[in-house]
Amino acid sequence: MEFTNVVETRRSVREYDASRKVERSVVEEIIKEASYAPSWKNSQTARYHCIMSEDIIKEVEQECLPEFNAKNADGASAIIVASFVNHRSGFERDGRKSNELGDGWGCYDLGLNNMIFLLKAHELGLSTLVMGLRDEKKIKELLNIGDEETIVSVIALGYSDVQPSMPKRKDVDSVAKFY
Ligand SMILES: Cc1cc2nc3c(=O)[nH]c(=O)nc-3n(C[C@H](O)[C@H](O)[C@H](O)COP(=O)(O)O)c2cc1C
Repeated sequence: MEFTNVVETRRSVREYDASRKVERSVVEEIIKEASYAPSWKNSQTARYHCIMSEDIIKEVEQECLPEFNAKNADGASAIIVASFVNHRSGFERDGRKSNELGDGWGCYDLGLNNMIFLLKAHELGLSTLVMGLRDEKKIKELLNIGDEETIVSVIALGYSDVQPSMPKRKDVDSVAKFY
C-alpha cells in the first residue's frame, strides 16, 4: 500500500472479528517495524507488553479497562500495553533532566514508535484502537510491570468487522503557523 493511502485509510476500530486470530510472528513484525522510529539519543525506551492469551485478554478487558473500552476492544486478538522506560529518554547519563520536559520525551518517543506500529498493522490488513482510558495500577499488577516503566496506552489489535469513516480533521490553516 502506498504511504499516503496507509496514513489516510487507517481508522480507530471499535468492532473486531473474534474468529480471526493474529499470529505472534505478525505482532513481532509490526514491533520490528516500529523499532525503526527515532528516539532521544537512540535510547529506544518504548516497550510492548503483548497479551495474546484469551484468558489474560479477558482479564485485562474486565479488570483494567472502563466498560465502554472493554466493549470496543472485544474480539481483538491481541491487547498491547505500550509503555516506556523512565528517566532515560530526555535525561543525561548522570540522571539530570536534559531540559524541562524530562520523561515527556519518553512519552514522545513512545508516540512516534506507536504511530509506526499502527500504520504497519494497517498495512498488513489489521486494525487497531489506542485506548488512553485504562487503569494503570491494575495493568501493572496483572502483568507484574515494575516502577521503572510508565504505562501509556493500551492498543487493541485485530481484524476489523466494520469500515468506519474518518472523523473530520482540522485544516492546515488552523494547526500550522508559518513565520
Ligand atoms: C492518546 C489517544 C487516546 C485514545 N483513547 C481512546 C479511548 O480510550 N477509547 C476510544 O474509543 N478511542 C480512543 N482513542 C481514539 C481516538 O478517539 C481516535 O484516534 C480519534 O477519534 C480519530 O479517529 P481515527 O483514529 O479513526 O482517525 C484514543 C486516541 C489516542 C491517540
